Amino acid sequence: MTTTKSIEDRVAIVTGAAKGIGEAIAIRYGQEGAKVVVADIAGDGAKAVADAINSAGGTAIATTTDVSDQDSVKQMFATALAEFETVDILVNNAGLISPMKHFLEADKAWWDMIIGVNLTGTFLCSLEAAHLMARKKSGAIINLSSGGATRAHRCFVAYDATKGGIEAMSRAMALDLGPYGVRVNILTPGSIDTTGMGAEDLALRGTNVPLARIGKPDDMVGAAVFLASDDAQYITGQSIVVDGGMLAQQRSATVDIRPPKDFPELPPTNGEE
Ligand SMILES: NC(=O)c1ccc[n+]([C@@H]2O[C@H](COP(=O)([O-])OP(=O)(O)OC[C@H]3O[C@@H](n4cnc5c(N)ncnc54)[C@H](O)[C@@H]3O)[C@@H](O)[C@H]2O)c1
Repeated sequence: MTTTKSIEDRVAIVTGAAKGIGEAIAIRYGQEGAKVVVADIAGDGAKAVADAINSAGGTAIATTTDVSDQDSVKQMFATALAEFETVDILVNNAGLISPMKHFLEADKAWWDMIIGVNLTGTFLCSLEAAHLMARKKSGAIINLSSGGATRAHRCFVAYDATKGGIEAMSRAMALDLGPYGVRVNILTPGSIDTTGMGAEDLALRGTNVPLARIGKPDDMVGAAVFLASDDAQYITGQSIVVDGGMLAQQRSATVDIRPPKDFPELPPTNGEE
């Protein structure tokens, strides 16, 4: 790993940074010399990541933040400002991937929960960031999307809807915020192992990826640094896809998390009745 120092001394909030892709981005931002706010609803995990950044010579604090709750988001920004005086970079990474449900098993509570964290959470954090960044005429917002924004996953109707919404919202935000010097871009992971898949699963899933392997959280961090840096100063409203080539190919999945043989029996009933 070669650090670029392109975001040195910038203040970055990374949400959902207690584990997975968010953790990898927060750690790399710390190595790049950014001051990092490691935010997560899992406060202990966020603290462990912030401690790791500080132990390695970086600068980080942790916040316990529920991105779906406006008061919690406002508190996160207040803490960031109290500690670091400004916010230059926001990575809206926090996201609920599961539970998955077949559409015929879906209910409003499930929909509201996933929309609340992924889509409303991205909106709430971006709103706070935009007000700060527009006033100082600079800032970078990076929103995590998914291949599901443009190609569907089975049993992920709510998730895919949030990611499509995040992509549309990012472009619309880019237009509104561009004149204020605030850039908004999309970072789209492919299949990234954040759960610690076994060797057999990794090998099987890797066979359908053009670059012949499942991604690692560290695969995401170079693009996250680039989009946050001045090297990307004329880029807004765009998406960088970091997926080993998956979206470029037309090929059906060998492994489906929930294949049609596991769909519900008919006639289904609406669980809310
Ligand atoms: N892993 C993949 O293959 C993949 C693929 C496409 C997109 N993504 C996207 O990348 C992002 C990170 O994915 P990941 O695999 O690292 O996820 P993960 O499940 O490993 O980690 C998500 C983190 O978000 C936190 N979180 C959940 N709800 C929260 C809330 N309300 N407020 C604050 N934090 C909350 C969790 O505690 C967790 O630490 C997500 O937006 C996800 O949709 C991941």
